[in-house]
Amino acid sequence: MLVMNKISIVGILITGIAVSTMVSCGDKKKPGLEFARNMYDPIAYNYDQVNKNFENGQTAQVPPAGTTPVGFDPLSQEYPNTPEGVQAASDNLKNPLAETPFNLEKGQLLYLNMCSHCHGEKGNGDGAIIEQGKFPPPPSYSKGISSRGGDMKDLTDGRIFHTITHGLNLMGPHKSQLNPTERWMIVMYVKKLQKLQ
Ligand code: HEC
Repeated sequence: MLVMNKISIVGILITGIAVSTMVSCGDKKKPGLEFARNMYDPIAYNYDQVNKNFENGQTAQVPPAGTTPVGFDPLSQEYPNTPEGVQAASDNLKNPLAETPFNLEKGQLLYLNMCSHCHGEKGNGDGAIIEQGKFPPPPSYSKGISSRGGDMKDLTDGRIFHTITHGLNLMGPHKSQLNPTERWMIVMYVKKLQKLQ
């Protein structure tokens, strides 16, 4: 008799817990039954938490003066996306990378991955999406004329770098996909494509 009672009490308890868990799961606004609470709260301070270890009592501290964020790209600020910015980039910027086989090969690889679907493998403006008729063709690097004026074959290092960084009309900016070194590697390769016949 006593054994039966114990079993039914345990049974009722388990059913009760299961039902209450299910009910609380149904209510999206309530957290429901939380197991191991300490797995929810990080040991480290959250950014917005009061923190007595710092004089101003805040966890998020202002970075020291002159600090730049990871991936900060001063050239894209110095040469903004304006006609004057393009001109200044064209006049002042030179590829800082040495023309080594390594840099050129990397430039080619990056070009094939990031540019060739529009510009074509040889830069003739006949990439895969152009051939499918989904996009107007960009001018050829060796024979075309830029919409900003001048022959494409004469575009300077700085102008190509600026175009990759900020884009131009239908061509989107690539500054978040390619870091400055990668952009310069591509510029090195585009300079080769400009000379193709
Ligand atoms: C989505 C297609 C697309 C991609 C991807 C693309 N471009 Fe373009 N690009 C264009 C088009 C279209 C133009 C012509 C824009 C215009 O003149 O209005 C252009 C123009 C240019 C120009 C000429 C700039 C000038 O001053 O006239 C350069 C240089 C260039 N692209 C380089 C690149 C490089 C390098 C990459 C890869 C990092 C790239 N593009 C990726 C479509 C693309």
